[in-house]
Amino acid sequence: MTRVAILISGGGSNMVALAQSMTGDHPARPVLVLSNDPAAKGLERAAAMGIATAAVDHRDFKGDRAAFEAALLEPLQRAEPDVVCLAGFMRILTPEFIRRFEGRMLNIHPSLLPNYPGLHTHQRALDAGDTEAGCTVHEVTAELDAGPLLGQARVPVLPGDDAETLAARVLVQEHRLYPAVLRRFVEGERAPLIL
Ligand code: GAR
Repeated sequence: MTRVAILISGGGSNMVALAQSMTGDHPARPVLVLSNDPAAKGLERAAAMGIATAAVDHRDFKGDRAAFEAALLEPLQRAEPDVVCLAGFMRILTPEFIRRFEGRMLNIHPSLLPNYPGLHTHQRALDAGDTEAGCTVHEVTAELDAGPLLGQARVPVLPGDDAETLAARVLVQEHRLYPAVLRRFVEGERAPLIL
């Protein structure tokens, strides 16, 4: 059984989609949901699903990224994950941290990478006049939002969209894409899934 840890910062809707997919004949199970924010709603949702949770508040480390990551590693390593999924985890991780999980850490990003790495992806797509938006799952490497593509799903940008309506349309696809990519990844498939 492949052990999956999921890192979140907020509501955790992608975490829920991932966790709900890991049942029955699925080759993986969620072993930990870890957040940098003890108040993240997703922690309650994970606990309600019977998943172990932990939080390491980044604000306690006052900008000392190495100390924050050392603290984050404690519960993470105790959980002995085979795969780590970033699911709305909003802290940038250092190359040193990422290296520990090289080739087995995934991230979902709310844009059609390589377009719009970083923040405010939906507003940037709207400002550029894009007619299409979407989401990407990729392997995490030291460079932000730039690792090998594992999957992508597209949505139209509709007249009258604002960042909120577009984000909601993309999020529906995130919940389809991430579980599908995770399952393929656990099964050893690395070719990108295009939905
Ligand atoms: C999702 O849209 C995810 O793609 C995005 O944050 C949201 C989290 O929602 N991630 C990033 O922007 C990463 N840079 P969720 O907590 O409901 O899954």
